[in-house]
Amino acid sequence: MSYKQIYSAWQNDPTQFWAEAAAAIDWTKKWDSVLDDSNAPIYRWFTGGETNTCYNALDRHVENGRADQHALIYDSPITGQVKQYTYRELRDEVAKLAGVIRAMGVEKGDRVIIYMPMVPEAAMAMLACARIGAIHSVVFGGFASKELATRIDDAKPKAIISASCGIEPARIISYKPLLDQAIELSDAKPEKCLILQRPQQTCDLIAGRDIDWETAMQRAQPVDCVPVAATDPLYILYTSGTTGQPKGVVRDTGGHLVALNWSLANFYGVKPGDVYWAASDVGWVVGHSYIVYAPLILGCTTILFEGKPVGTPDAAAYWRVIENHGVNVLFTAPTAFRAIKREDPRGELIGNHDLSSLNALFLAGERCDPDTLNWATDKLGIPVIDHWWQTETGWPICGNPLGIEQVPIKVGSAGVPMPGYDVQVLDPVGNQVAENVIGAVVLKLPLPPGTLPTLWQRDDLYIQKYLSHYEGYYSTADAGFKDGDGYLHIMARTDDIINVAGHRLSTGGMEEVLARHPDVAECAVIGVKDALKGEVPIGLLVLNAGVTRDSAEIAAEVIQMVRDQIGPVAAFKQATVVNRLPKTRSGKILRGTIKRIADQTPYKTPATIDDPAILDEMKAAVETLGYGGE
Ligand code: COA
Ligand code: AMP
Repeated sequence: MSYKQIYSAWQNDPTQFWAEAAAAIDWTKKWDSVLDDSNAPIYRWFTGGETNTCYNALDRHVENGRADQHALIYDSPITGQVKQYTYRELRDEVAKLAGVIRAMGVEKGDRVIIYMPMVPEAAMAMLACARIGAIHSVVFGGFASKELATRIDDAKPKAIISASCGIEPARIISYKPLLDQAIELSDAKPEKCLILQRPQQTCDLIAGRDIDWETAMQRAQPVDCVPVAATDPLYILYTSGTTGQPKGVVRDTGGHLVALNWSLANFYGVKPGDVYWAASDVGWVVGHSYIVYAPLILGCTTILFEGKPVGTPDAAAYWRVIENHGVNVLFTAPTAFRAIKREDPRGELIGNHDLSSLNALFLAGERCDPDTLNWATDKLGIPVIDHWWQTETGWPICGNPLGIEQVPIKVGSAGVPMPGYDVQVLDPVGNQVAENVIGAVVLKLPLPPGTLPTLWQRDDLYIQKYLSHYEGYYSTADAGFKDGDGYLHIMARTDDIINVAGHRLSTGGMEEVLARHPDVAECAVIGVKDALKGEVPIGLLVLNAGVTRDSAEIAAEVIQMVRDQIGPVAAFKQATVVNRLPKTRSGKILRGTIKRIADQTPYKTPATIDDPAILDEMKAAVETLGYGGE
């Protein structure tokens, strides 16, 4: 069937469509209703059904002929290690780890925070929680203690699973002091912490609270999968909102299984037994959906890569991994390809490797610039697919469904909508705009299985943040347009979110940190264009009256504050002091105009501006940081 036929089949009978997709999942109890709309606008999928995610990801494959197939390959150029786990080995490790976690007092419905680097034990921890029905919440390792503490206080975990250290190319990150400090800062202190000691740097354990991973595993009794309701949460993943308070995106069990299984086969064009590599981090949604869950649910081999596209050791790292493990499909962020292209512009290193296994490259996480897409297509000679989705949706909204058919690739567009998503572009009063006209990109409710049913214990906030702008629609907070062929073009965020090297960050959250500096009266953080990372944040600071200290010193202090309070991943490295900020007459800071000045994109002086002369001051300020100019 063609893409159009499949999309129409979904449009004509969405519940039948998802019921058919759900047949690929093993249920311990079949659902009563496919879609439960009794509490609209909060919708639930497969209510009454029971299943277990870990069973679908591991045990059923062991039982059905994949026991000796590699389930997970850990490739770590940063430590010089490669380790393979068959489905049987992974199932056995996870069953034992689930025993350890249960012995720590964790039961079905309890939360467990996982704060780990890219080691196979991180994936095992996620699966082990799923096995006993505990709800995991993975926190990305590049976040500092305060960010971790915020998540601890919201999720109130019974236990935390962590490691002694993470390894970045230039340094070892001591995780344990960050964890200890986060627990110190939080009110909801966990009872137990399970700590994986890595040989590169071990850590001290706190008696009575911390448990050594290896010792506990030696004593552990394996446990079986616990059936949970399809609507029970599998995980919470915190994502940046417009303030420093992250939003706890909930993923439920049944819809997630169905959607990931469907999307890996039909969207990414992957078959059971294939080798699939999502070069991301388990701390992000890409890592949840396409490093850990989808490839295992479908019976593939997944690659867990602890390294970087460049510098571990060189710009051929991706090509080596593809060749060594026979990768069929690669998924990463455009920034990774920009990094490779910068070091190896002619793609000479590609020729040293046999990439014949590779069928397709998928890029997402930020807008893919045409140069990068064209370069990758030219050098690899395979379909290179830009696709668009969000932490909230958990799987692609738009793209090119290679598993169904390849529709024509349009460079600069995020592709066509997937079944499940009715994507519309609206004007401020909620009318659909004409073709090629930019508006708010929204999704008609209900959202498909696998997308967020709500925010963790905050239905009210979910409705307020996502569903209240246009009745009957989910607001994506992206602006864009649909062209005459129905392809979507995503142009910008409509809120304070920026994408730095594919990492989603809140400029509002950074402003909250800057505002805590005793000398700062007012500030603005803006995401400006960056050739490698897509966007990077810069800060403009207005100091309190009477402050006579050296401005450079204050700038350095706020930079350090963001690093300490949000984390190195914020990549906040530039700030400058200004006399004042441009505002509207009602006092709103004109961040968009400053951004346009810094990005050298044409702008009009806003009609509501308080004092137009200030824009010249902004020009001078961003020029001191290397932006703007003629
Ligand atoms: N733990 C601790 N620190 C981390 C970290 C982690 N898990 N991940 C990143 N950091 C640190 C880095 O060391 C760096 O610190 P520095 O300021 O001391 O140099 C900082 O956070 C920024 O990291 P990163 O965004 O990775 O930038 P980079 O300059 O080190 O590398 C790229 C740039 C493009 C090579 C890198 O971003 C990359 O590999 N991207 C791949 C795409 C990707 O994974 N996207 C995720 C969503 S799909
Ligand atoms: P995250 O939740 O980290 O996946 O970030 C989601 C946001 O990243 C989206 O709302 C977009 O703003 C942006 N994004 C992701 N993929 C794309 C893409 N292919 N094109 C444009 N923007 C994208």
